[in-house]
Amino acid sequence: MTAMLLDLLRDDAVFLLRWLHVVAAMVWVGSAFALVRLDLAMRPREGGGAAQTLFFNAGAAFRLSRTAEVEAGEPALHFKFEAYATWVSGFALVCLIYCAEPRLYLIDPRLWDAPPWAAITVALAALPLVWLAYDIFYKRSGLAGDASVAVLLVFCAALSAALCVLFAGRAAFPLIGANLATLMAGNIAHVLAPAQRRRLAALRAGAAPDEAEARAAGARALHNQYLALPVIFFMLSGHAPLLFAGPHRIGVAVSALGAGFLIRRFFLKRARGLGWDWTLAASAAVLLMAMLALAWPRAPEETAAQNAGQAIARLVHPGPAAAQNLIEEKCGYCHAAAPVWPGLATAPAGLDLTDRDMIEKKAAAILRAAVLTSAMPPPGASAPLDEEDKVLLWRALR
Ligand code: HEC
Repeated sequence: MTAMLLDLLRDDAVFLLRWLHVVAAMVWVGSAFALVRLDLAMRPREGGGAAQTLFFNAGAAFRLSRTAEVEAGEPALHFKFEAYATWVSGFALVCLIYCAEPRLYLIDPRLWDAPPWAAITVALAALPLVWLAYDIFYKRSGLAGDASVAVLLVFCAALSAALCVLFAGRAAFPLIGANLATLMAGNIAHVLAPAQRRRLAALRAGAAPDEAEARAAGARALHNQYLALPVIFFMLSGHAPLLFAGPHRIGVAVSALGAGFLIRRFFLKRARGLGWDWTLAASAAVLLMAMLALAWPRAPEETAAQNAGQAIARLVHPGPAAAQNLIEEKCGYCHAAAPVWPGLATAPAGLDLTDRDMIEKKAAAILRAAVLTSAMPPPGASAPLDEEDKVLLWRALR
């Protein structure tokens, strides 16, 4: 009873944290996108004078311009706490979901048959290590502009491949998102916020601010612009077994990264006043099509019929009842009103598969998760369905 209560409380905590996480991320990415648009829209005014942006908020018109004049005690607005709230709530979610139930989410014995503690350690240790590798590389290399963004893309692709090789897809994709989001939050905490603090202090004191530091901070802010769309893709993809649980998920991840970078570039170019670059948009579309092609499901292959009776039997649609025993056996210990699997308080994803009506109603989802991909059963929890099981489900539920 206490175990069940704890599981329920954990589910509630996960829900509340998700709410906080999504809201904080919206405010963070929303303000970062809005600020960069205001910045890039600065144009010199006719008749000279500093560059400005005219914009509206609610009913009022505003003019924004750069300044080097700050009064001694003048307060300044910062946009960093939403980033920290996003990171902290996201980290708590990684702990409460993937680390609390490594066999349900994290481990795929066909990839890395790790004991739970080892899988959890590697998943968590990756976050600071990836940040350190990235930060040291960019501090040392001094790369800037397009070259720096191109290297960032390669870095993210390599990281994605590594996580996909180690962990079950259901965890690998959100973990890619968590690592990229850690780069973004790290950029704010360790580069942008300190640079802004020092600039404010210099301006308040009437001293010359450090322009080299400002340029380095600008490069990291640009990285954050490019990372935002892939991060959101990887966070949402946990709900799409076709994307994360197919045989080509590394290709899916890399195409999504490329498409995210290109789409962001398309809009940044437009914000700079350079017009719509349709080549960028078309390249992003091609990458997205490639991603969907890589994720395209493949029906299980039926072996040739051994005799006429078998051939005839295969023409008959067996109906959901034929799949019921198999599903009961291979899915029912989790997907039941009162799951036997420890750590589950209610039927996961609301799917009670001991109920035949439910099997019929959710046939498409069952095929997607268990037959067209190997998302279910969780690879760390039990052996995957064999080809014969898949053919049976395919014939019964299609
Ligand atoms: C060891 C426990 C376990 C077993 C066994 C299991 N599932 Fe699941 N299933 C889960 C969990 C946990 C989720 C929710 C995943 C999430 O929250 O992202 C889930 C989610 C699903 C979903 C929703 C879509 C998705 O992929 O998230 C479907 C469909 C599904 N399972 C079908 C099946 C079928 C069919 C079987 C048997 C072949 C099966 N499951 C066996 C634990 C299990």
